[in-house]
Amino acid sequence: MSNNADIWWRSAVIYQVYPRSFKDTDGDGIGDLPGIIQKLDYIASLGIDILWINPVYLSPDRDNGYDISDFKNIQPQMGTMEDMETLIKKVHEKGMKIIMDMVINHTSDEHAWFKQARMSRDNPYYSFYHWWPEEKGQPPYRCGFFDPEGQGWHYNEPTRSWYLHYFSHHQPDLNWENPEVREALFDMLRFWLDKGIDGFRLDAITFISKDVSFPPVTRAFLDEKFKGDWGHYYADGPRLHEYLREMHEKVLRHYNIVTIAEAPGVRADQAVDFVDPARKELDMICHFEGIMVGYLPGEFKKMAPGGFDLKELKAVYTRWDEACEEKGWATMYLGNHDQPRMISHWGNDSDTFRDLSAKMLFTFLLTMRATPFIYNGDEIGMVNIRFEKIEDYKDIETRHVYQQLKDKGGDVQAFLQDQQLAARDNSRTPFQWDSGAGAGFTTGQPWISINNNYIEVNAAGQERPASSLLNFVRSLIRLRKNNPVLIDGRYSLLLPDHPAIYAYKRQTGNDCYLIALNFTSEAVVCPYDLSKGKIVVNNYEDTFERGQLLPYQALVIQTIP
Ligand code: NOJ
Repeated sequence: MSNNADIWWRSAVIYQVYPRSFKDTDGDGIGDLPGIIQKLDYIASLGIDILWINPVYLSPDRDNGYDISDFKNIQPQMGTMEDMETLIKKVHEKGMKIIMDMVINHTSDEHAWFKQARMSRDNPYYSFYHWWPEEKGQPPYRCGFFDPEGQGWHYNEPTRSWYLHYFSHHQPDLNWENPEVREALFDMLRFWLDKGIDGFRLDAITFISKDVSFPPVTRAFLDEKFKGDWGHYYADGPRLHEYLREMHEKVLRHYNIVTIAEAPGVRADQAVDFVDPARKELDMICHFEGIMVGYLPGEFKKMAPGGFDLKELKAVYTRWDEACEEKGWATMYLGNHDQPRMISHWGNDSDTFRDLSAKMLFTFLLTMRATPFIYNGDEIGMVNIRFEKIEDYKDIETRHVYQQLKDKGGDVQAFLQDQQLAARDNSRTPFQWDSGAGAGFTTGQPWISINNNYIEVNAAGQERPASSLLNFVRSLIRLRKNNPVLIDGRYSLLLPDHPAIYAYKRQTGNDCYLIALNFTSEAVVCPYDLSKGKIVVNNYEDTFERGQLLPYQALVIQTIP
């Protein structure tokens, strides 16, 4: 590998499919692999290079597939192994690549390894997981993100010990210290790579190494060293990079693939440790610093009352651009299955501004110096569903945190309000294909409610009109592909302190673009003469006022350096 522009994944546009909610072909209300196959022409029509599909392995689905009970089998509701092989083949026939989501920080508690492990301390699989024996007293506190009590240890009667789980107690963490665990996982990665997949998105991979002396972690220590954030602590395991290098050496380097880390807890100044090609670890990482802007620190997904601060957002993306300027390569995403809908969160989902703000955000996403990820449904303007009752939610995270709060006598109404803005289920509602019954997603009862706005917001209605969001996204992808400067030209931030405008230049030699984005619902004076140069993108079609940007206006101007 070398750090040059012809590495295929650097110039790629990635499309994330959430299979459960994408397209159901058998009427059980759950999306499936044949559904993805059926929609490949649609995906290809966007100009996508790489498809990333969320987990489709056998799973009790406590966390929608992120609790795998058999890595080498497909969840029956999603289809069969044959369907998966057909999908891989068809994706390739259409000139695209496919990467799978791989969860190797933990398994399901119904995985055969854990079923064995939990039986007795003498069982050979006991050491596949992390345990704290009863005779040592209470285990030192660890945070379990989805646990109703916030606990990261769960007591197991037959072994008289607690096991570690960074997520829910149905997701025990694997013990990477054990070489047999690593070999078993590597073998499983090869199984999929040999089927022809083109890489992995590695779930919570930054958490795989633990300080197995399990020292006490005090609040003060966490605050001082890790900004009070358990994710930062978990991503700081002593053998993390050693494990990544071993995985690279034994598996990854033998295939022409791309590996993308989900990288909670990683700061920009640590990025190259993962993605510098010379280190032989991974190719790209998805950081959390951008997506977390606007949330109150120390609170569970609570937005700051005035919304996010654009200056901070600019600083974060600029920092990450700099971090990967010399070595490695960055990624860019504004939403995914763990986040609220991009438009509701960073734009404006009112009828007046939904379309405009979505076009502005896509202009941002597709003109940065990073591989962009599009989350399915964003390209047609899907927005938060804003559930009102806890019963409407399916997500283990929302349900467990609600329970935790309720048990403590906390303000559950305020929590439900916050979840309307931040819950993961907002982005997991079924894809809105058309205005027919079931939104063209299913003929049955969908596993989670469909957003009522599917009558106006759907893919079919946007297929033809040249000015639709869908066609705007298609044309932006074409623009990026046809202008390498938009892929790897230098990025320089303009107006870092402007509270409403995000403006930057992309430049290679004399090839130069100015991108000016208004992130607010008010017209703003723009200190640049936007009439110098050729406007190649304008989300207001022909409307353009010399010294200002209209609400949520996005302009891409080909200009002189
Ligand atoms: C990150 C995944 O994206 C999320 O959906 C999941 O709940 C956790 N990791 C645990 O696997």
